Amino acid sequence: MGLYGEHVLPRIINVSCAMKATEPLRRRVCAGLAGDVVEIGFGSGLNIPFYPDSIAQVAAVEPVDLGWKLAGKRLGETSVPVRRSGLDGQSLPLADDSFDTALSTWTLCTIPDVAAALRELRRVLKPGGTLHFVEHGLAPDEPVRRWQRRLEPIQKRVFGGCHLTRPVVELLTAAGFTIAELDVFYQDGAPKVVGADSLGIAASS
Ligand SMILES: C[S@@+](CC[C@H](N)C(=O)[O-])C[C@H]1O[C@@H](n2cnc3c(N)ncnc32)[C@H](O)[C@@H]1O
Repeated sequence: MGLYGEHVLPRIINVSCAMKATEPLRRRVCAGLAGDVVEIGFGSGLNIPFYPDSIAQVAAVEPVDLGWKLAGKRLGETSVPVRRSGLDGQSLPLADDSFDTALSTWTLCTIPDVAAALRELRRVLKPGGTLHFVEHGLAPDEPVRRWQRRLEPIQKRVFGGCHLTRPVVELLTAAGFTIAELDVFYQDGAPKVVGADSLGIAASS
């Protein structure tokens, strides 16, 4: 991953993803998480303050060691048990049918083989389990999409493989999830090219 990916980018993400404008979105996406939860792309644990009491424990999946270290204070302040349980969403070292709910926030943009990650989430979720997601992706409007296509190569280089044009809902349905709740919007305070968000709940069968 290199010096930049391991030591610089996680700090940039820790600050940029902690923007005040993300807090209401984190609160919304975490509402209803319950039981045993798997969170992919745990990052620096910015969702921890929004974990509801209905969570029994969280299995955190994150490749970057520094992210886990930057999460230290938040981990110390929560009563929810959180265990680092994997390094790669594309290959989860977790048993089939073992989680009630899953969480992914601004992570499906970055995982190289996103279809594999969604397959893995479906495998580890119990039948009827749900994935709570807020993800940026392909914008609803063509002029914004044009800019997304132009800027994606730069975005990928600077932000550790982050794509701008992934069609979030299409990817979820192609993976066999059923969309149960969905809100599509441009995130306040973010340029439209990186702020075309889809927030919702997808059910696994
Ligand atoms: C933009 S950050 C979002 C972090 C966090 N979810 C948040 O909302 O603040 C994307 C995260 O995905 C992680 N990531 C990258 N590749 C991954 C993979 N293959 N499996 C799981 N997480 C991955 C990155 O290390 C980073 O922490």
